[in-house]
Order: sequence, then C-alpha cells, then structure tokens
Amino acid sequence: MDFMSTQTVVNLARAFAGESQARNRYCFYADQAARDGLYALEELIREIARNEYAHAKVFFDHIATHAPSVVDNINLDSGYPFQILDTTQNMLFASKGEHDEGHEIYPKFAEIAKEEGFPEIAASFTMISKIELQHEHIFVQLHEQLKNGTMYKSQTPITWKCAYCGHTHSLTEPWQVCPVCGRGRGYVQIHLSTTK
Ligand SMILES: [Fe+2]
Ligand SMILES: [Fe+2]
Repeated sequence: MDFMSTQTVVNLARAFAGESQARNRYCFYADQAARDGLYALEELIREIARNEYAHAKVFFDHIATHAPSVVDNINLDSGYPFQILDTTQNMLFASKGEHDEGHEIYPKFAEIAKEEGFPEIAASFTMISKIELQHEHIFVQLHEQLKNGTMYKSQTPITWKCAYCGHTHSLTEPWQVCPVCGRGRGYVQIHLSTTK
C-alpha cells in the first residue's frame, strides 16, 4: 500500500500534532504550577511534557521513515483544545486528554495501522496508549489532591521528602519551611499511587 495514501499517515500526523501541542500545553501548566509555588508539581508536569516530546518524535520518525521522499505537506482536519485555567482545572483537563488518547484514539490508530500493513506503527500506537493511561492516572490523582486539599496531607504519618535537599521526615503533614534548606512546602515530593 502506498504509504502517503493511507489513513495511517494522516493518523501519525495527527498524533504528532497532538503530542506536540500536549507537550507545550504541559509546559504552560508547569509554568503556572511554579507561579503557584508548587515546584514538586511543576517538575512532575515537566517530566510528562518530556514524555510527550518523545512520543511526538516517535510519530514524526515513522512518517520520515515510511515517506517515499521529502514530505512536502500533510493536510489535517482536526480539532485541538486551547484552554489554560488554574492548576487544579489544568490537571483535570489534562487527564481527559490522556484518557481519550489512551482509551480511544491510539487504540483505534493501532488497529488501522495493523489493517493497513504497518505492524511496527501499530505497536508504537499501542505502547504509547499505555503510557497515556499512566499519565491519565497521574493527572487524575493530582486533580483530586488539589481539589480536596490533600496534596500535603495524610491520615497517618508518611515519609515526606524535600526534593531540594533530600530531608525526610514521617508526619501527617510536611513542614511549611524545610528545617534543613529553608525551601517551602512546594518542594516536598508528592505521593502518587502507581497502580489503579
Ligand atoms: Fe503522549
Ligand atoms: Fe500523555
């Protein structure tokens, strides 16, 4: 099948555009988290932004590898979200985007790539869909913690760690100011569950 006339090339271009935008959107969210003084949260979001950059590169490379020569242009007709709110809402919005990619869009793209005879592209869509579901799981928890005021609160004492100096202490709530380095609570690492 001529690669440039497949649905898969369009899907790859859409995925590249979507990942590129997600990456920048998350950098904007990280900037906002930093303005909120939530530096540990900022770093978490930046890590996810770097993941989206890596995903964009995977999809870009599939196009570059399969295209017959120089790709002049791929026309897309797609909707992309433009929304920056407060950090709590940003986390909710991000979780929804990840949900759609992980549960619907990439599994569908994988199916089509397989049907069109591109198993390695299908494998990328499938593997990246699983990463997006992990992202969704993180953003859901961050949203819940911010909404409920539990980011830095625990029912029972747990170990909190200053991401700046490494100080740790078991408490129900971490320090407002780190006794070792003087950095604020926003540097304290956030607790997330890795399993659903
Ligand atoms: Fe991604
Ligand atoms: Fe993601």
